Amino acid sequence: MLAPWRRRGVGRRLLGAVAAEARRRGHCKLTLEVRDDNPGAAALYRGLGFGAGEGDGRAVQYLFMEKRLVSSP
Ligand SMILES: CC(C)(COP(=O)(O)OP(=O)(O)OC[C@H]1O[C@@H](n2cnc3c(N)ncnc32)[C@H](O)[C@@H]1OP(=O)(O)O)[C@@H](O)C(=O)NCCC(=O)NCCS
Repeated sequence: MLAPWRRRGVGRRLLGAVAAEARRRGHCKLTLEVRDDNPGAAALYRGLGFGAGEGDGRAVQYLFMEKRLVSSP
């Protein structure tokens, strides 16, 4: 989002719309990735209920992994 539009509730509303549509389609959860050097975005997501995942009935933290197939420019 362009800087002048941040902190006006747009991100919260967008994610609310995503969650409503996902529920309507019968999906059971949402997942997202956020860099650990982006505390503002993480605060938004935590405030909307995103957190650790669940596996075997307990909270688990998933690791995001990637493998580069081409070298960075
Ligand atoms: C992260 C981003 C999508 C948030 O969207 P936004 O429209 O600014 O967020 P909202 O106004 O809906 O914020 C809702 C709540 O989230 C939290 N929050 C949002 N941005 C925050 C920040 N920079 N620092 C701390 N808390 C923040 C606050 O609790 C906020 O409520 P408040 O303003 O009443 O205190 C937006 O800042 C952005 O596009 N940033 C640059 C790109 C980026 O980081 N994208 C996310 C990649 S994972």
